[in-house]
Amino acid sequence: MSGLLAGKRLLVTGVITDASIAFSVAKLAQENGAQVVLTGYGRLSLVERIAKRLPEPAPVIELDVTDPEQLAGLADKVREHVDGLDGVVHSIGFAPQSCLGGGFLDASWDDVATALHVSTYSYKSLAVAALPLMSPGGSVVGLTFDATQAWPVYDWMGVAKAGLESASRYLALHLGKQGIRSNLVAAGPLRTMAAKSIPGFEQFEDAWAGRAPLGWDLTDQEPAARACLALLSDWFPATTGEIVHVDGGYHAVGA
Ligand SMILES: NC(=O)c1ccc[n+]([C@@H]2O[C@H](COP(=O)([O-])OP(=O)(O)OC[C@H]3O[C@@H](n4cnc5c(N)ncnc54)[C@H](O)[C@@H]3O)[C@@H](O)[C@H]2O)c1
Repeated sequence: MSGLLAGKRLLVTGVITDASIAFSVAKLAQENGAQVVLTGYGRLSLVERIAKRLPEPAPVIELDVTDPEQLAGLADKVREHVDGLDGVVHSIGFAPQSCLGGGFLDASWDDVATALHVSTYSYKSLAVAALPLMSPGGSVVGLTFDATQAWPVYDWMGVAKAGLESASRYLALHLGKQGIRSNLVAAGPLRTMAAKSIPGFEQFEDAWAGRAPLGWDLTDQEPAARACLALLSDWFPATTGEIVHVDGGYHAVGA
């Protein structure tokens, strides 16, 4: 097997449609020599159907990343398919509708807590659940949407992403001794199921089209996926706690 990820065994969460960023990661990873195990949440038969569209059909393990029992059983279930993990991809986000679209001042703590549990705390939960299978050189990669500023309509999801960015740095701190890295890719807006659930998401789309120096294709998940592959590979051996922007350069320029 040849390619950037030759021989690597990966756990990829977050596939729900073939537009999911995770689907692009899984596809490119297989094309580059990796063995991929997927996790699916909720509509498992749908995830299994989508998994068959990969170059190599991938096994799907059920995982609600907020369910302690499923997290506790994850390593054993993964072991049925691979004998260890070189990389874990967290491509999971969710916030109740009240938390998005301008409702920042009114969202209840219960709803905000759900957003933070699924989108922020789960990064740590997933890494810890996979840890028994990982060894030095391992890599954990997640997806963020640049949380250094407040965006219109992103509201509590923006707070969740700020937390995720911090959680990734703490994971880097706590897993560094074991030789395991934690890094995030900050992707520009992409038309996925999660994005479509954000009322007013088109505002991001228009802003990006006008400002990103390299331009930006809202329907091309591959640039973000490629960055995930790079961070999963052996080509960033001394990089952890980092955030790589894959946004056409939007974050770097003023309006
Ligand atoms: N689409 C964008 O514009 C964009 C930009 C930057 C970052 N991101 C991030 O990329 C990641 C992937 O999102 P996407 O855009 O590919 O959308 P998507 O809808 O394809 O993927 C989101 C995934 O989260 C999963 N999920 C939700 N709740 C879960 C739970 N409790 N347990 C396990 N899985 C759960 C869903 O099943 C789905 O597979 C998210 O973290 C998202 O915030 C997206």
